[in-house]
Amino acid sequence: MTIRVATAADAHYADLLCQWYIESAKQRGTGIAKREPEYVREKMRQGNSVIAFVDGELAGFCYIETFESGKFVANSGLVVNTALRKHGLGRAIKREVFRLSRTKYPEAKIFGITTSLAVMKINSDLGYEPVTFSELTTSEDFWKGCKSCKNFGILMENERKMCLCTGMLFDKLDAPLPAVEESAIADNMRLPIVTQQ
Ligand SMILES: CC(C)(COP(=O)(O)OP(=O)(O)OC[C@H]1O[C@@H](n2cnc3c(N)ncnc32)[C@H](O)[C@@H]1OP(=O)(O)O)[C@@H](O)C(=O)NCCC(=O)NCCS
Repeated sequence: MTIRVATAADAHYADLLCQWYIESAKQRGTGIAKREPEYVREKMRQGNSVIAFVDGELAGFCYIETFESGKFVANSGLVVNTALRKHGLGRAIKREVFRLSRTKYPEAKIFGITTSLAVMKINSDLGYEPVTFSELTTSEDFWKGCKSCKNFGILMENERKMCLCTGMLFDKLDAPLPAVEESAIADNMRLPIVTQQ
């Protein structure tokens, strides 16, 4: 398995990743923000995303978004190839994007909103804590990402104070970065792990 920061040379994977987002949203029957391929490509060009491969095939992805001039950072769009789920890959990708976020934006609070139990577990282990939406960014750019979610009406009815997602926040800016080798990847996928920046 290879996990590394994505670059412009990975742009051709953007369409497939966006298909995975659509399929995952359908599968879960729950809200998920829609992403356009050009948005994903821009994340790759900016060095603000992490991509994973298993046996040379695309295996997963996650990207960084910044809000309020870098006061808040979100690690969004985590997705793992359906066939490779539940082997620790999602956790490993999230760990790398978290490390990248803290390295590039050391002053930022890192946050996310999710209905996914897997993501809640991963975030908790990284040191995120559940919070009310009042603790998250007020940036319109972030909340407009919810427009394509089927629960957007619920969010707006509640004046953006609550919805079906749980808000999670990491604000322990002095905490050490998690070590790369701590990744809990299943033995059959563990080696060789190549992390490149
Ligand atoms: C969410 C997702 C990225 C997880 O990837 P993964 O590689 O299967 O996750 P991992 O194997 O690293 O599992 C991490 C933890 O979540 C748990 N987990 C994984 N899938 C789960 C599920 N469907 N339900 C409950 N727990 C789950 C694992 O058991 C593990 O917990 P543990 O360490 O306590 O055992 C993957 O399921 C996915 O791509 N889903 C579709 C996209 C999506 O929902 N993204 C999140 C949007 S917020």
